[in-house]
Amino acid sequence: MDESYKQVYVDPSKTEAFVQKKWRSTEAELFESEKELLWRILKNDQSLLDVGCASGGLYNILRQKFSGLRYTGIDIDSACIEAARREHSGATFLSGEVPDARFEEDRFDVVVSLMTMSMQPDYKKLIQELVRVSSRYVLFDLRLKYEGPTIVDRDVSYFYYHGSGIRNYYIVHNVFELLNFLHTESLHLKSIRIDGYYPADKTSAFLPFPKNQLMTGMICLEKYPKGERSAVKRSGGFKEHADRLWCELAVNLPGFEKDWF
Ligand SMILES: C[S@@+](CC[C@H](N)C(=O)[O-])C[C@H]1O[C@@H](n2cnc3c(N)ncnc32)[C@H](O)[C@@H]1O
Repeated sequence: MDESYKQVYVDPSKTEAFVQKKWRSTEAELFESEKELLWRILKNDQSLLDVGCASGGLYNILRQKFSGLRYTGIDIDSACIEAARREHSGATFLSGEVPDARFEEDRFDVVVSLMTMSMQPDYKKLIQELVRVSSRYVLFDLRLKYEGPTIVDRDVSYFYYHGSGIRNYYIVHNVFELLNFLHTESLHLKSIRIDGYYPADKTSAFLPFPKNQLMTGMICLEKYPKGERSAVKRSGGFKEHADRLWCELAVNLPGFEKDWF
């Protein structure tokens, strides 16, 4: 990430929101869609990586429900990480940027990144890295739409980040582009699940299309177990491959029809 852009994440107004005001550190502050998936996937004895953990709000929530969870959080904002370390002794907090290839392949049972991925212009690299370091589940949220291409342009789809006065990316993914990318062979995905909805509250973001076309989606990816990854054959031309049967697909988005894809 270029240094000038990183400024957006270390702006004092943003740090204050997560350190002094403790945003998103209680269960009541999580969205229903986040809780639904987290409670379904997580088990007490797992290891979890939280990318963009801020000051450890998610750890504060999870430690009360999953006391045996081995939690690691990572964030670019070192002031948030210092606060997290002061407050929570039972977890590992790292200062740094993802992707920086610091973790070995399959290192964590679950990799989570909440309210972070829709601001990543290098989203393909990021998704690849989250999947690489997970041995099984990857969970993150994105903004989605059906019409027009994915928009990664800070001049036309953006929001002002906290009090920084700086535009941040507001990336809106075309659902079909995203699904095609997620079928990339090297991701070794066994299943792709997307649960989404049209949010009741209109976003404060500046969008280059009508706001009522914007959906929020929770993406839950499951990887093939290590020994089964090379056995999955992909090729073109035959119906069974065109149907992409190697990957289970569950898209629960309003208006999505299975045979569209
Ligand atoms: C909107 S906050 C979300 C915090 C928390 N995950 C939540 O759900 O409330 C996004 C966080 O991601 C961090 N971040 C953004 N890009 C990152 C990257 N590439 N690697 C690590 N942290 C990143 C920011 O510094 C910020 O603290």
